Amino acid sequence: MLTDDPILVTGGAGFIGANFLNLSVPRFPGRKFINADKLTYAANLASLRGIEKAPGYSLERVDIAVPEQVEALFARTKPGLVVHFAAESHVDRSIVAPGEFVSSNVVGTFNLLEAFRKHCATKPGALFHHVSTDEVYGSLGDTGLFTEETPYDPSSPYSASKAASDHLVRAYSRTYKLPVKITNCSNNYGPLQFPEKLIPLMISNALERKPLPVYGKGLNIRDWLYVEDHCEAIWAVIERGELGGTYNIGGNNEQKNVDVVHRICEIVAELTNAPKQELLGLITYVTDRPGHDMRYAIDPTKVIRECGWKPKQTFESGLRRTVQWYLDNSAWVQGVRSGEYLKWIEQNYGSRG
Ligand code: NAD
Ligand code: TYD
Repeated sequence: MLTDDPILVTGGAGFIGANFLNLSVPRFPGRKFINADKLTYAANLASLRGIEKAPGYSLERVDIAVPEQVEALFARTKPGLVVHFAAESHVDRSIVAPGEFVSSNVVGTFNLLEAFRKHCATKPGALFHHVSTDEVYGSLGDTGLFTEETPYDPSSPYSASKAASDHLVRAYSRTYKLPVKITNCSNNYGPLQFPEKLIPLMISNALERKPLPVYGKGLNIRDWLYVEDHCEAIWAVIERGELGGTYNIGGNNEQKNVDVVHRICEIVAELTNAPKQELLGLITYVTDRPGHDMRYAIDPTKVIRECGWKPKQTFESGLRRTVQWYLDNSAWVQGVRSGEYLKWIEQNYGSRG
């Protein structure tokens, strides 16, 4: 099923992309993996230390929003499989500065599709796998689940840009018969996540006794999935999903934000012998996010039935692993929080960028 051609992973220095590469490179020894990443603030090469010297692995600093860079990369490497993670991914940043989201997420996906169409699409077994989000479906009320048939109704510039990219991928499949698959996943958490998203922010702030800012009343619901379970679902869809198909990925794990923050405080207290009440006292209710979607919840029946995937971690086991990872990797967190890692990227890659 998988071709022997190189595997191009875009955004492989970010949270999910790095987890995907850390899992995949050792699993397919001898395969060529090319990590094409712009190395934005969200990228961290320290996340790839375990595989950076693996034979077959290489990193290319590429901005997918620049067509010449994408064209040159594809002309040179001619991948058989593209797994497309690269994107601006934080909703709050998209509210403050939406332009980057349109250029990286929409124009970037367009540039990849054009290059894939030109250089790869006719290779036997070629595949463009587009990694997307359940946020394209907008917000749910108290009941119901997102299925693959739920109409798109994005609320934020981030989700609108991801929706646009999904539409482009599907349009290229229908118009040019490009071999594509799309996965729309719920909120991920786990090791290597930049501490601006809810779970790593709360863990890092709790460890440093900083305020834990909960938006609005904390009653919004997200459907959390451990990052490795997401990566395994992507492989399940690549290997067993239907060509042209869309698959929703989630772990049947709806949680109110305030409950997530409470549980993080409890686990941090337990693992560090800290007084739980002191950590809970850090919770601070702050002004709500504009256009804040109330509830996300995925119906994962299709990926379970057609691809034989199921998550390994429960929320409890996944959250414990995650807190433990942030405890064990304080140097990674400090590097991110102090900005040291960005200086390193500029020193080592700035001249190539
Ligand atoms: P992230 O922000 O941690 O990492 C994104 C990576 O993409 C970074 O390494 C960054 O340098 C790179 N990138 C950004 N713009 C680029 C450009 N123009 N050219 C090349 N590289 C660029 O994001 P993440 O959380 O790892 O998300 C990865 C993908 O998964 C995204 O497409 C996101 O929409 C999707 N997704 C994320 C979640 C989640 O909960 N994090 C859930 C579902 C889907
Ligand atoms: P986030 O991790 O930004 O993911 P997304 O917005 O893509 O779902 O936020 C998850 C939920 O947590 C969301 O309802 C917003 C909320 N939130 C807070 O309450 N406080 C915060 O500091 C952050 C970053 C998020």
